[in-house]
Amino acid sequence: MPEQTDTLIGHLLEVRNGRFVAKLLNEKDGFRPTLKAADEVKVVGQVGSYVSVRQHGFRSLALINHVEADRSDGRRCRSAAGCLVALTPLGQITEDGVFHRGVRHFPTPGAEVHIVAEEEIDSIFAKHRQYQFEFGHLHSHPSTAVHLDPSALCSRHFAILGQSGSGKSWSVASLIQRMVDAMPNAHIILLDLHGEYCWRDRTRALHSAFKPEQTRYLDARALEIPYWLMTFAELVDLLVDRNDPGAAIQTAFLRETIFELKKKEAKVLDLETISLDSPIYFSLREVYETFKEANEFRTDFGKTKGPLFGQFDEFLVKLLSRLNDVRYDFLLNPVRRNRSETLPGLLRDFVGLGDPKCQVTVIDLSPVPFDVRPTVSAQIGRLAFEFNYWNPFNREFPILLVCEEAHAYIPRESNTQFEGTRKSMERIAKEGRKYGVGLGVISQRPHELSETVLSQCGTYICLRITNPDDQDYVRKLVPEGETDLVDILTSLGRGEAMILGEAIPLPTRTQIHKPDPTPNSNDADFYTAWTSGPENLDIEGIVDRWRRQGR
Ligand SMILES: Nc1ncnc2c1ncn2[C@@H]1O[C@H](COP(=O)(O)OP(=O)(O)O)[C@@H](O)[C@H]1O
Ligand SMILES: [Mg+2]
Repeated sequence: MPEQTDTLIGHLLEVRNGRFVAKLLNEKDGFRPTLKAADEVKVVGQVGSYVSVRQHGFRSLALINHVEADRSDGRRCRSAAGCLVALTPLGQITEDGVFHRGVRHFPTPGAEVHIVAEEEIDSIFAKHRQYQFEFGHLHSHPSTAVHLDPSALCSRHFAILGQSGSGKSWSVASLIQRMVDAMPNAHIILLDLHGEYCWRDRTRALHSAFKPEQTRYLDARALEIPYWLMTFAELVDLLVDRNDPGAAIQTAFLRETIFELKKKEAKVLDLETISLDSPIYFSLREVYETFKEANEFRTDFGKTKGPLFGQFDEFLVKLLSRLNDVRYDFLLNPVRRNRSETLPGLLRDFVGLGDPKCQVTVIDLSPVPFDVRPTVSAQIGRLAFEFNYWNPFNREFPILLVCEEAHAYIPRESNTQFEGTRKSMERIAKEGRKYGVGLGVISQRPHELSETVLSQCGTYICLRITNPDDQDYVRKLVPEGETDLVDILTSLGRGEAMILGEAIPLPTRTQIHKPDPTPNSNDADFYTAWTSGPENLDIEGIVDRWRRQGR
């Protein structure tokens, strides 16, 4: 007689690498729809719950990801009795109760399948408890808290994926709130696309999903990331039309002009060597004048045209239209940051070391028109990277950059207008780890998000995803052996996630703790609005905001 028959629920039928199939007990063999394990009542055969597979003293842990009737039985299915369950093996538990990922001793058909006791699961999750970074609780064992390993989460990058309304913004708020509580010296930069994490109400009072003393709110319009911080390649993206036949000569002349201007500034700053990309001030107006002069240059009292005469007509039109476009003011017409000396101040605010010091910098992109958001995001990403790249203490001062709605500016396709952001973020994904820059990407459309960025993530927090394209894409990303778990994503409730990857001891179906306070991500309540909403609106005000391009 096997011991502990009270937890037995079935036997293994099939064993494959990465997948087991078990048959649950039939009613005549003693099937019971619920069982008690360590004083807790468990529903037998529930998707997302753990089972332990036992044979010859070896124990492996597996997760149920699929249950179906055994059609060969030829009877109607009235309960889970006799059903077939597909299991994803997760790891092995040694005799002294220590859990290791991966199965080395494969069981054979006939092995016993047991419901897992609370303390077995608890011992696995105890491993990360030391970090005090509790993110949720187990769906199958509500009293077991799920703790994440913050270093693995941030240094190897993470993704929070899920369809609209699945709970991404709440998860981000909860994650950052708990990070800051557990690690008071955290440095987090959050790109907030919709003003969900810091927002002003109609009386202009500022609200935040994080404690005011921990948060710096930066309106992206006021942030002023000046053009002279951009790399030469980014400036070319912005100012030169690559399809123009004169693009090569425009680029060459731009290089020469900027370098000359920067060399002049370098002398003032007492810098001996600089490169074309050194972040020092030059005047874009002067660039314009230099191009204009070359474009109109004649010799012999106006009789002979200069070598560049008329070459820059298109360039000048484009540059002027950019300079006059108010949407690009934060970049091209900085009011405050038009001297090289302003750079340290910008960086200080940006990484939270301004006065007072703050753990979280929320950069609100919602007031910025939506077609310049990629340019702003690219600059923010690059600034974070450059900061720690040049910081000799980057390992002691790691930074986390969290990007909401990342698919909107880190796209999968190349050759879009977002090339610049994509490159900045891909660089962080690929090299950030070496310089202490972590990336968190949040998206409702994983298959539209850069593959390079997603595939570099070490942890995936997957909320409900029902779209088959997105599911397939996620399936390709997750570690081999865990791909079956993606099937569970369809059945997740709000705020419920399948967490896969390095920050968690084993793939886990987790109910994420509610954030407190909650972010401002609520949908419009049509019913209330349409039954008791305002009778009239200030249309002039709406038109004015639209005209001024500021919300
Ligand atoms: N952890 C959670 N616990 C309980 N309810 C949640 C949780 N996360 C989200 N929700 C519910 O789902 C709604 C949508 O969440 P939200 O984070 O705005 O979704 P998303 O950003 O994915 O569109 C919230 O308003 C809330 O009612
Ligand atoms: Mg959201």
